[in-house]
Amino acid sequence: MNTNNELIYEGKAKKIFANKNPKEVIIKFKDDATAFNAAKKSTFEGKGELNCFISQTIFKHLINQNIPTHYIHSHSKSSFIAQRVEIIPLEVVVRNTAYGSICKQTNIVPGTIFKDPLIDFYFKDDELNDPLLTIDRILLMNILEQDELILIKELTLKINLILKKFFSNIQIKLVDFKVEFGKNPNGKIVLADEFSPDNCRLWDLKENNGKIESLDKDRFRHDLGDLIEAYSEISNRIKNFISST
Ligand code: TMP
Ligand code: ASP
Repeated sequence: MNTNNELIYEGKAKKIFANKNPKEVIIKFKDDATAFNAAKKSTFEGKGELNCFISQTIFKHLINQNIPTHYIHSHSKSSFIAQRVEIIPLEVVVRNTAYGSICKQTNIVPGTIFKDPLIDFYFKDDELNDPLLTIDRILLMNILEQDELILIKELTLKINLILKKFFSNIQIKLVDFKVEFGKNPNGKIVLADEFSPDNCRLWDLKENNGKIESLDKDRFRHDLGDLIEAYSEISNRIKNFISST
């Protein structure tokens, strides 16, 4: 990376650098992992490259299916070029199967399969610990206009359909995921941030004696096994699938 590239923002798992073109940024994936609002931290050599590859492949796949994203092109093994966007401060979570926080906050039993996917919106604010929002609160807070919120819901449901199929092709169940959207320099709402095993729950559908095997950041959150092994497995299955089609 060129030293002239000014660091614009550093998050828990990524750094954003300015690019020569002011409408673009360089997104660099770090090897760091955090959980529970950074109460738990670690570093895993190779995670940045794995997440960069997985995210890029997913963004390219979504673009091919007409989903607008910030992704432009690859840059290095652990970075890609994206549109410079203003991030909308919402964590948009889609749940196909109940797991995680929803089972702690309600009486919904873990593993319950939802007839229709549930979309939960959280306020992206570490100081407030990313609280769950309602549609009315989002509108009251002027985070989005009603039509923008409808658009984001539609895009998110389409992304869910496309990615459920994508992962089932590599024998993985997409349990839930979190995405973020941004407004690009033309004011258009696009999928932004990343899509990696850091931000979703991926359960292995391959034979494992009836046990759920997590191939995502739950391994780190709950000490369920080697994180790099799981992320490499996803990356390898994606590579094998791409080369067979
Ligand atoms: P949850 O069960 O903790 O609400 O998480 C739902 C999904 O969102 C899960 O795939 C993990 C992801 N997620 C993030 O990407 N970032 C976060 O800060 C949290 C809390 C969850
Ligand atoms: N992303 C959050 C953190 O870094 C929480 C999580 O993913 O579990 O702390």
